[in-house]
Amino acid sequence: MHPILNRLNRAVIESSLSRIKIEPQHSVLEIGFGGGSALALVAKRLTTGTVTGVDLSPDMVRKAEYQFRREIADGRIRVQLGDIAALPFESESFDRVFTINTIYFWQDTLQCFLEIKRVLKPGGQALVALRSRENMQRVAFTQHGFRLFSPDEVQPYMAQAGFTHVRSTHARQGTRFDEILVSGCKG
Ligand SMILES: C[S@@+](CC[C@H](N)C(=O)[O-])C[C@H]1O[C@@H](n2cnc3c(N)ncnc32)[C@H](O)[C@@H]1O
Repeated sequence: MHPILNRLNRAVIESSLSRIKIEPQHSVLEIGFGGGSALALVAKRLTTGTVTGVDLSPDMVRKAEYQFRREIADGRIRVQLGDIAALPFESESFDRVFTINTIYFWQDTLQCFLEIKRVLKPGGQALVALRSRENMQRVAFTQHGFRLFSPDEVQPYMAQAGFTHVRSTHARQGTRFDEILVSGCKG
């Protein structure tokens, strides 16, 4: 990735992780891990915990299996092929679930939030990070099949899915890479 993109990507990951307060023993799920930068950062915060990454792309999963072969061998990272619409995990498996820049690809926004809630343990916390519609519209490729959201359009889906303490913030407004962070708790 280009160094500037890398830095911006790192910034949204750091903001996301600081919002959901990951503890060393937690079981954490990242949906749509892409290049895997967030998996690496989460793994560094864990002692007895595990971070699991699920992605729809076999290519991303294969690359992560190679990149994280040591962490996978010692049990701190797991990676798996799967779709957010039907996550390949038992109910109440994770303390924290997060996903960064994937909501644009979800076919049914409410169903996906319900799926996130299903795999969260009671008392667990979830976070979705995205760029705003206003921001993404400037990029030509988002005209085709992307679902875009204004800063206050995601929070209602999370509330409708039954999350509590739903909170939305919008940072870096007016820059090319704004950050909408929407978080909520299960129970
Ligand atoms: C724009 S990339 C973001 C990657 C990473 N989260 C980041 O912020 O750098 C979107 C990722 O989500 C994955 N993805 C897209 N649709 C998905 C789905 N329905 N379920 C799981 N992963 C999905 C893609 O394969 C890709 O790796």
